[in-house]
Amino acid sequence: MRSKRNKLLIYGAAGYTGQIIAARAKALNLDFEIAGRNPYKTQQLAEELSVNYHVFDVETEYAWQKALQDKQVLINAAGPFKYTGEQAMKACLKAGVHYLDISAEMETYRLAESLDEEAKAAAIQIISGAGLFVSYDALVVHLSKLVAEPNSLKVGFRHYGGFSRGSVLSSKNIAALGTLIRRNGDIIDNPDPRPRVFSFGDEKVECMPTPLGGIILSYKSTGIPNIEEFFSLKLPASELPNITLENLPDGPTIQERAAGRNGIAAEITGRNGKVVKAWVDAPSGYDFTPLSVVAVAYRVLNNDFKVGYQSPGSAYGEDILQDIPNTFLFDTI
Ligand SMILES: NC(=O)c1ccc[n+]([C@@H]2O[C@H](COP(=O)([O-])OP(=O)(O)OC[C@H]3O[C@@H](n4cnc5c(N)ncnc54)[C@H](OP(=O)(O)O)[C@@H]3O)[C@@H](O)[C@H]2O)c1
Repeated sequence: MRSKRNKLLIYGAAGYTGQIIAARAKALNLDFEIAGRNPYKTQQLAEELSVNYHVFDVETEYAWQKALQDKQVLINAAGPFKYTGEQAMKACLKAGVHYLDISAEMETYRLAESLDEEAKAAAIQIISGAGLFVSYDALVVHLSKLVAEPNSLKVGFRHYGGFSRGSVLSSKNIAALGTLIRRNGDIIDNPDPRPRVFSFGDEKVECMPTPLGGIILSYKSTGIPNIEEFFSLKLPASELPNITLENLPDGPTIQERAAGRNGIAAEITGRNGKVVKAWVDAPSGYDFTPLSVVAVAYRVLNNDFKVGYQSPGSAYGEDILQDIPNTFLFDTI
């Protein structure tokens, strides 16, 4: 008989963001274990948290199966996900364990999309992008219900809190894509990339055209055929090769994270020309993502999931915003 599956596994838990995710899981008193490839860091963190741990490389299939045998859901926090997403998703399909990651890389969203049938056959939910995009997508789903036929979506993301070393590395994969948008249902290169000003409450911020992932995830959630995304900063990879990774700190300190907030502003235009706008005010990036992905894991642990490839919005709609502390949605029109 299969052992009881009611636990969470966090892979990559000893990374900068993984540690904050594990701390959140501990604060919620979830039944979880951690895993990672670095024996020393993984063991040390497990001792600090008083949880069981597993040390294995992402390629080692039998170790995945051993670690996943009594689990209900995996959070993959080991990025760049280009190098870990496929192995972890395949391990989850084999083990019948729901998959979540905090990827901001579109390749892993596409990979998850391509595994839809397999995920349905395995009766698991796969969400790649269950970090920032949980609130982003909740906001878009909320707005999409306020117009009869939503036709175009524009989203601006104001990031606060600097970048972790892992994010700098992953942003190379995002920058390499260029300025993609969704037009009439297809993903194309933006023929006319121009900055755009978004309002985050009283603050107006000029944001640069940057594909963030909503062109895949929010398309899945709402089917809006035209989507453009904008970011308040330059991607850190655009500063490379001037950045030396070895000299970067792991990520912002607790004090730095607490000193500002993230904003996500969205506007949707309906076929009849009606425009609706709203924005989300949320904790800064490296506090926000752990709160978000653990909120989703919590739902899954309580048997709230939809099998197959899902986006945060297709699985949980706008309701999930209420599960993310210190995060608020404001309608602006
Ligand atoms: N969109 C969002 O909401 C959001 C927010 C925050 C972070 N992120 C993403 O999350 C990822 C992690 O960020 P971070 O700040 O935690 O970076 P980090 O501090 O570098 O941690 C990365 C973790 O992943 C592990 N890892 C990396 N490559 C691996 C591989 N090939 N096999 C096994 N383990 C591997 C690392 O292990 P070692 O220590 O052994 O290298 C480390 O434990 C990045 O891709 C980042 O972009 C996304």
